[in-house]
Amino acid sequence: MRHIIDITDISREEFDRLYSLFGDIIDHPGDYVDCCKGKVLGSLFYEPSTRTNLSFSTAMLRLGGSVVGFSDPGSSSVTKGETLKDTIRIVSGYANMIVMRNPMEGAAKAASLYSPVPIINAGDGGHSHPTQTLADMSTILRLRGSLDGLKIGICGDLKYGRTVHSLVKSLSNYKNVQFYFISPRELALPAYVRDILNEKKQKYFEVSGLDPVLPMLDVLYMTRIQKERFIDPLEYERLRGTYVLDTKKMRNAKKEFLVLHPLPRVDEITNEVDDDPRAAYFTQARFGMYMRMALLLTLSKLGETAPQRIDCDMPKCVCSNAKCITKTETYLPPLCYESDDGARCAFCDKEVSFNSI
Ligand code: CP
Repeated sequence: MRHIIDITDISREEFDRLYSLFGDIIDHPGDYVDCCKGKVLGSLFYEPSTRTNLSFSTAMLRLGGSVVGFSDPGSSSVTKGETLKDTIRIVSGYANMIVMRNPMEGAAKAASLYSPVPIINAGDGGHSHPTQTLADMSTILRLRGSLDGLKIGICGDLKYGRTVHSLVKSLSNYKNVQFYFISPRELALPAYVRDILNEKKQKYFEVSGLDPVLPMLDVLYMTRIQKERFIDPLEYERLRGTYVLDTKKMRNAKKEFLVLHPLPRVDEITNEVDDDPRAAYFTQARFGMYMRMALLLTLSKLGETAPQRIDCDMPKCVCSNAKCITKTETYLPPLCYESDDGARCAFCDKEVSFNSI
């Protein structure tokens, strides 16, 4: 049994196996129609979703399994005050695997502490979204042939864009990838993600303009400015519309170029770009379903185990992040880890302080 909380829970070798299975599922879908017969996926969406929710459900149905759950927490006993821990204990008694999206950062990690069945993180606030990365990586590999040597521009909301954090971590395992992070200063990549690139000595540039770097790129990964994550609505109003990819800009991009976007988009890619053969975001969403089939099939073969024991021998830590799951699920153990620039919360990766005991 294992959980998929962060993209680092999948090694490069495991990704290669998932990618190979993904290719076989696309080529021979008929071979997989009964592979998850009798298995149940618990699908807990505490936050809106179109692609992740529906592609996980479709993936399970295409494998012959079933799906139970909710896409609106308002229809569940969360409204009566049920804790995440209790919901997970209940649903893990009904389902063989649980996929969960939650607005609080670190929620999937918290769920994993109480689950005897695999927890799959379908997005935890502005923190991470590992299965979107499976979709992103498989799209680049299938359409471009390789991830090594990639020149990738990642543009928009790099602070709150959880898909960005997971993608950067994953691409940092490949050779000679050059990252161009294109964002306003206020929405720059979080320090803990930059630290990973520094540790691995990966080349990256942080810039505010899209136009000067566009002609150099093999892939442009556009993202939406994440309105729902802003504490100050006026700051969102000031930053929205900073980047718009249109057909005029596309003229300056390479012939062999890919535009990706995790979607949904708002106004950062104009509709006319959809007709350009280099626009790959709808294919990317479809490939996401096949990658999720590969993941569910792989996880369905693993057995159940007792939830992990929680031990932390560090002093009691307090997370600095108001959006951390430890702020709402207050029974959670205070877990942290050491990093180069101090201790960080093991749920959401933000800085912690220590209570004197
Ligand atoms: N890419 C993505 O996570 O889309 P949804 O929010 O629609 O699931």
